[in-house]
Amino acid sequence: MAFELPALPYAYDALGPYMSAETLEYHHDKHHQAYVTNGNKLLEGSGLEGKSLEEVVKESYGKNAGLFNNAGQHYNHIHFWKWMKPNGGGAIPGELEKAIISDLGSVEKFREDFLAAGAGQFGSGWCWLAVKDGKLTVMKTPNGENPLVHGATPLLGCDVWEHSYYIDYRNARPKYLEAFFDHLVNWEYVAELFGAAK
Ligand SMILES: [Fe+2]
Repeated sequence: MAFELPALPYAYDALGPYMSAETLEYHHDKHHQAYVTNGNKLLEGSGLEGKSLEEVVKESYGKNAGLFNNAGQHYNHIHFWKWMKPNGGGAIPGELEKAIISDLGSVEKFREDFLAAGAGQFGSGWCWLAVKDGKLTVMKTPNGENPLVHGATPLLGCDVWEHSYYIDYRNARPKYLEAFFDHLVNWEYVAELFGAAK
């Protein structure tokens, strides 16, 4: 099954002023497109053709670095566009909020840990809210890695590659992370993934 670039679920200028149209044009049309194009080339002859994207990510990890990097980033970005929405952030749906409080201490503590994971990821990567062994956990991963290859299910991820924030925030990664958490996260989509993971 060939990889395909999904359309953005909102207009390029819909996430302003927190994420600009220029960032989304480059990030979606150039960076995500490149993962799709290169991933398709590397998928050919890999022996993983015909597998689902999740299977390609898990099975190429540690074995086929080129394919893994592109397939992992394709998976991460498909979700990243859906993890944001115009007028996002704000209240977390009840069931998910309850689990955050019981597994991570409080919503404030979760926010603090999530932002710290993103700021503390040295170089390119992602910070995550994931489910592992039935419990919520905050993680960070380098490059195209994600919780799937660490035995966990991703519920929310923030892209901390410079291509995601440098146009709008320059080197101020923590400011970008705050804006993502407070104004962009689509908590309904996170709650939907949480429901499916339970
Ligand atoms: Fe990205």
